[in-house]
Amino acid sequence: MSNSEFKIRTGIPGFDLIIDGGLKEGKTIVLSGESGSGKTTFGMQFLHNGALDFEEPGIFVTLTQSPQELINDFRSYGWNIEKLMDEEKILIVDARPFKTNDETFESGDPLYGTEPFPFTHLTQLILQGIKKIHAKRLVVDSLSVLSIQYGNKFNARQGIQKMIHALDEKKCTSIFISENLDSKTPPEWYEASGIVILNHVQKTNTMERSIQVIKMRGTKHSEQTYPIRFNENGYHVLHPRLQTIT
Ligand SMILES: Nc1ncnc2c1ncn2[C@@H]1O[C@H](COP(=O)(O)OP(=O)(O)O)[C@@H](O)[C@H]1O
Ligand SMILES: [Mg+2]
Repeated sequence: MSNSEFKIRTGIPGFDLIIDGGLKEGKTIVLSGESGSGKTTFGMQFLHNGALDFEEPGIFVTLTQSPQELINDFRSYGWNIEKLMDEEKILIVDARPFKTNDETFESGDPLYGTEPFPFTHLTQLILQGIKKIHAKRLVVDSLSVLSIQYGNKFNARQGIQKMIHALDEKKCTSIFISENLDSKTPPEWYEASGIVILNHVQKTNTMERSIQVIKMRGTKHSEQTYPIRFNENGYHVLHPRLQTIT
């Protein structure tokens, strides 16, 4: 396991200021929040910045939306995901357990249907992707789709632990998107180095969005809640030291 103190800048304006410069290289954090709170956007922005500004290719593992849908959705921010895919700076891995007829499975690939340990399967897919594009960043959207398939919580935690360990060895800094599908704390929350929560609350005639870091091992992070905004470039955190955007 690497003990590197090297910080990976997310490039999300304002966010790196909250976490003392960036995420720890090779570590995995959990990103959680209600539907529509901006998790997928945050994840893709982390990869888009990595590919464009930091020479760090990234993998987006989708377990919910189709790759085409993702590509289309993020055009509204002016992000050309398709181009970055052609340049092998972004790889979208379609790991949805259920797909419609027009998007057929690779033959012989049961995609978790008969898979007793879906995390083992997913870890293999990710490691292949890391090798292919030399990825330094990863987003899994979302892990909850897999966690709920495990009857046994111990097996789920062990599967997640192994995956996190493999990513650390490859120095691949990762975000696991996590949805609270039942009222229990999801297993990935215990295993990740950090937990970031996105909130969105309905206020009279608008939606108020905010972000809070509730755990970040070995990092002097802020515990405050900061407002977040979307603009034409994506996401930014309203941090007092962020002078350029108001
Ligand atoms: N230009 C934009 N393109 C897409 N979504 C936007 C844009 N501006 C604001 N949004 C907001 O982002 C939300 C989508 O966030 P998303 O990342 O999909 O959330 P989650 O993954 O948590 O469900 C939309 O519901 C919308 O309110
Ligand atoms: Mg989403």
